[in-house]
Parts: sequence; structure tokens; C-alpha cells
Amino acid sequence: MGILDGKRVLVTGVLTDASIAFHVARAAQQEGATIVLTGFGRLSLVRRIAQRLPEPPPVLELDVTDQEQIASLADRVREHVDGLDGVVHSIGNAPQSALGGNFLNTPWEDVSAALHISTYSLKALAMAALPLMPRGAAIVGMDFDASLAWPGYDWMGVAKAGLESCARYLARDLGPHGIRVNLLAAGPLRTMAAKSIPGFSDFEELWGKRAPLGWNLSDPGPVARGCVALLSDWFPATTGEIVHVDGGAHAIGG
Ligand SMILES: NC(=O)c1ccc[n+]([C@@H]2O[C@H](COP(=O)([O-])OP(=O)(O)OC[C@H]3O[C@@H](n4cnc5c(N)ncnc54)[C@H](O)[C@@H]3O)[C@@H](O)[C@H]2O)c1
Repeated sequence: MGILDGKRVLVTGVLTDASIAFHVARAAQQEGATIVLTGFGRLSLVRRIAQRLPEPPPVLELDVTDQEQIASLADRVREHVDGLDGVVHSIGNAPQSALGGNFLNTPWEDVSAALHISTYSLKALAMAALPLMPRGAAIVGMDFDASLAWPGYDWMGVAKAGLESCARYLARDLGPHGIRVNLLAAGPLRTMAAKSIPGFSDFEELWGKRAPLGWNLSDPGPVARGCVALLSDWFPATTGEIVHVDGGAHAIGG
């Protein structure tokens, strides 16, 4: 018996086998879920990576900024599963000018791209999936603690602060539908998204000092398991919440 037995879960954001979403999909399958993946842009790569999961799932194309792809998502998902008990938002991107200490000079066009992909997309994805979601379903998004300003994270930090607020408003408006919306604030992990952040190695030092439980930047396992827990029926009365899976670093000053 797994804690996601019989659940149908849409997982966005697989790019490589280091992607947080890849590990979420694997852990969810191990707990009994049926998975449908979405991929952006490099679909043949995503399909190849999907073959490495215990049960290779279907891969649908989804650019969260493409209104047609968002509008057709429910119908395309229905070709594989008859509903969705869970949706995982594991999507983030910002143009290079929005990262790495250029905060004061980033033009609006680049800020706007970061917010569209990394913040507004949670609402867009939730609404696209809503027709498929019964009462008791859960949406989980991936956050990086936005309560502080970080080295190099810049407009992506602003986008994550917006994501945190967006999740609370979605929790308010989807609660009456019986749908939970929560974020998981992950500690730093070595993924493609992380590689695009100049100075990402500073986080290794910070987490080395702060995380009372310790933190392995090469092990997405704890984040994947936390996400599976939030998707499961074991958080039935939790919504609008941010669960930190970061070795405890968020709780420690200095
Ligand atoms: N790696 C970390 O240290 C870390 C820490 C906390 C939170 N996160 C968050 O976890 C999530 C997943 O990132 P990751 O670290 O696994 O890196 P990743 O690069 O593997 O995943 C990012 C995903 O976003 C997708 N994406 C980008 N633009 C898109 C678009 N227009 N439409 C649809 N998808 C798009 C990419 O295709 C990719 O699959 C992101 O929200 C990221 O901010 C990452």
C-alpha cells in the first residue's frame, strides 16, 4: 500500500534526471500514483528522461506562457487519465539579466518574463487543471524561501515572493472546491535551474552553516518525499501553507 495509491498526478517541470520534478514523479509512482508529465521545449529530451522512471509516463507539451497550450491541457490530459488528484508545479525561469547581482538594472521585459513563467503560471496551471480535479485534490508548487534577499537570486526572489502570495490566494479561492494549494520551500539543489544562477555555490556554504539537520545539494530525495506527502491524504486540512524541506536552515539565523 502506498500513500498515493489510485491517485492521478500531473507533474510539470521534468527537464533532466536532476530535476526536482523527476524525483517527485519517481517517488509518487513508488507510492502508487499514476503519473502524466508535461515538458517544455526540449520534448525529445524529456521523453528520454521519462523512460528512466519506474513506469514511463506519457509526456505532454506545456509552455505555461502559451495560452493555447494552457487552454487545451485538460482535454490532452483526459486522453491518459479521467481526472487529476494532484498537480505539481515545478517550473521556474528568469532571463540572465534578472539574476546575479544586476537587480538595479534589470529591464521590465525581463522581470515580466520571470513573473509570467515563475509566478503567474501557478494560477494558469491551477485553472487549466481545475475541470479535472475532484474534491480532496491537491496542488503543490516549488518555492525557494522568499522571506529574505539572497545573493544573486534577485528578481527570481521577487517572483518566488509573488508565488507565495499567489498560492495563498489560490488556497482561498479553490478551498470551496475542496482543493488544497501548498508550496514546498526546498533547500538548494544542483539542477539546470540552479546552474543558471550566478553564485549558486554561495548557497552551499550558507546551508552548510545553517541547516541543523545538514543538507545535501545533490539529493532531491527529501524534497520529493515532502511533495508526495503534501499530495497525499495525510495533509487533509492544510492549505495556503509553505512547508520547508531545507534541513531546517530557514529557522536558524547567523
Ligand atoms: N534547484 C534548487 O535549488 C531549487 C530550490 C528551491 C526551489 N526550486 C524550484 O523548483 C522548481 C524546479 O526547478 P529545478 O531546480 O528542478 O530545475 P529544472 O531546471 O530541472 O526545472 C525547471 C523547469 O522549468 C521548466 N520551464 C521553464 N520555462 C517554462 C515554461 N515557459 N513553461 C513550462 N515549463 C517551463 C523547465 O523546462 C524545467 O523543466 C522551480 O520552480 C525552482 O525555482 C529549485
